[in-house]
Amino acid sequence: MKLTQEEKDILAGKQGETMAKILKTVVDFGDVFGANKLVPITHASHFVTSFGIGLLKPLFRTMDEIIDAGIKTKEPFTVDPRPIDYANVKCNLLNKLVFSKIMYKEQKRYEEQLKKIGLKDDKSFTCTCYFEEVGNLPKKGDILGWAESSAVVYANSVIGARCNRNSGMLDLFSAIIGKVPEFGLLTDEGRKADWIIDIQTSKLPEAQILGSAIGLKVMEDVPYVKGLDRFLGNELTDDVKGYLKDFGAATASNGAVGLYHIDGLTPEAKELGKKLIKKDAKVYTITDKELEKVYKSYPVLWKNVNAKPTLCFIGCPHLSRTQLEHWAKDILSGLKNTGRKKVTVKTILTTSPQIADKFRETELCKELYRAGVKVSSICPLMYTNNPLAGKKPIITCSNKLRTYSSSRFYKSDDILKIITGGNK
Ligand code: F3S
Repeated sequence: MKLTQEEKDILAGKQGETMAKILKTVVDFGDVFGANKLVPITHASHFVTSFGIGLLKPLFRTMDEIIDAGIKTKEPFTVDPRPIDYANVKCNLLNKLVFSKIMYKEQKRYEEQLKKIGLKDDKSFTCTCYFEEVGNLPKKGDILGWAESSAVVYANSVIGARCNRNSGMLDLFSAIIGKVPEFGLLTDEGRKADWIIDIQTSKLPEAQILGSAIGLKVMEDVPYVKGLDRFLGNELTDDVKGYLKDFGAATASNGAVGLYHIDGLTPEAKELGKKLIKKDAKVYTITDKELEKVYKSYPVLWKNVNAKPTLCFIGCPHLSRTQLEHWAKDILSGLKNTGRKKVTVKTILTTSPQIADKFRETELCKELYRAGVKVSSICPLMYTNNPLAGKKPIITCSNKLRTYSSSRFYKSDDILKIITGGNK
């Protein structure tokens, strides 16, 4: 990699041993992917590691070393959601013990470390840092060093920023150095589509299943989706952005997609159109039948497949304000239709702390709480990803949560029927 004199000086230790090690890691990472140089990050960072899992000893050691050396990130940063929220996601004594003494015993220490190196504020824990309410919102063309897969794919595709799918800790190191290696999705060539996705469905597909089908097919390639604007239109409204957020998270978790283009809708597709498609691009046609096949292929990992669900998570990635209000209204009117006062399954709607705080002041939220639904800013995956919670029959309409835990996936309409008792 071609380095500037300043970078060579840092590597030679002119800004201390810790800075030299941090830069060396970023350079080595770039070398592995054939990068020619480092380029400046132009927008604040977002970290994927938000949980104080005891096993991550090297992370906590590294953070201590960074703090002792007096190093901070160039800009204040945001971070993924917390793994615990005892106030809204109840735990029994045993669960609490497992969380606080074993699983997340370093949570307090890690949050203190994050603060010392530049965490934006105490409310900066969400995977949807790009919501206006949260404020870590890049603009088109910005260069980022993020690692949270759902945020990377959103920033690249819906905003038109440029970011590779970095790993955890690489996001931390590049936020300190203020640079990332230039390769892959940072380049014009790397943003061209390897696949044409031809949407031939009879109605707007469920975002989470369409994203899953495409992710499973193209893996880490770039898809160019044609025919979706028939249903979504050509403007990035709040509803459309919510759809694309969930769609993208599913492409990124069921496959490893870091960027997609939607014909006539996402910024680069609007600007460059078919010029974004590589000459030898492969074609994947999506029909109603194909989506049903993908949906039916999801395994049920519960011990007892006939168990009654005990918990439902909606909002992975975190819900936007518009999505939260939609769900709240749908649940309350679903309960009215079935003549019930409370949901049949304990339900948690997850959203960013800023949106949750505002929403909790509303009458709609109070009604929702009376109906047995809670609003939290937890990461459902971190909550379920342990031997105790993992055994529970949990349901979700998040394909990311389904993929990384034993939670059972249902379509949104079916989830609504289950929790409001409308499936009887
Ligand atoms: Fe966000 Fe946690 Fe889901 S980070 S995307 S809520 S797994």
